Amino acid sequence: HPIALIGAPTDVGAGARGASMGPEALRVAGIAEALAALGLVVHDIGNLAGPPNPWQPPVNGFRHLGEVIEWNRAVHHAVLAQLHAGCVPVMMGGDHCLAMGSISAVARHCADRGVPLRVLWFDAHADFNTAALTPSGNLHGMPVASLCGDGPPELVGLGGFSAAHPALSPRDLRQIGIRSVDEGEKQLVHQAGIDVFDMRYIDEHGMRATMERALADMAPGTHLHVSLDVDFLDPDIAPGVATTIRGGPTYREAQLCMEMVADTGRMASLDIVEINPAYDTHNRTAELAVDLVESLFGKSTLMRRRG
Ligand code: ARG
Ligand code: MN
Ligand code: MN
Ligand code: MN
Repeated sequence: HPIALIGAPTDVGAGARGASMGPEALRVAGIAEALAALGLVVHDIGNLAGPPNPWQPPVNGFRHLGEVIEWNRAVHHAVLAQLHAGCVPVMMGGDHCLAMGSISAVARHCADRGVPLRVLWFDAHADFNTAALTPSGNLHGMPVASLCGDGPPELVGLGGFSAAHPALSPRDLRQIGIRSVDEGEKQLVHQAGIDVFDMRYIDEHGMRATMERALADMAPGTHLHVSLDVDFLDPDIAPGVATTIRGGPTYREAQLCMEMVADTGRMASLDIVEINPAYDTHNRTAELAVDLVESLFGKSTLMRRRG
């Protein structure tokens, strides 16, 4: 399948400015050329348009809710159109609120075809806040809750879903690399029963066993979606993020992770979010993301037999 690169240059869901420069940082790091060099067909469809960041304080627990809704509608429609066209959409954020648009589109596509869905959420954070619990009001801390049906109706309703029939069931979600969850958020993550492979789990079992479990029991024909928040990675290797948390996976662990996803042959859509060039040095975080994306799309050192 051809790959469709979709730029979503906004930081309306974040607590710091600059993730809006993420799509261009990935292009400068050579994302299209790297994928083409693997023999893949790549279309860069350019950047989506949306409202500017008004940089206002939260209102009723949400910062920039109207702008976040507009951006997510744009992402939803673009991702759905690329899925319809038979492409693998790669949504280049932008902050992580945009996963509401992309994953709701993937969920719509799957639901309409009876295709099972699994979402791998690579992140330092659970992103399971609600307006009542959020310490910041930033919507990039809320996409998982909203996709699971707990959020503002305009966002829960993307793709025709609802609180009673949400885009995502916690059963279809695996979170990996988690090491920062707010007090109230902990309770909700527990209640929802999300399968969380936090850093302690990775320390105790290793990345290989972690990924084996995160990828286990996929029904035949599953659509695998990867949502990669680059703050998943240790800040020593990925400093270009506004929400760094120390103690994340190393370069080698992250590469193994991506290679194991590629080995499934099932990844059919991807988000790369939260790259913030204003915090970076020499674009190294976007360059690292491109290395990882190459692995996700099957780059390996040697010829390997498909297992
Ligand atoms: N839990 C914090 C909050 O809700 C941080 C969220 C960070 N999310 C992210 N996608 N970087 O404000
Ligand atoms: Mn296409
Ligand atoms: Mn994060
Ligand atoms: Mn995130």
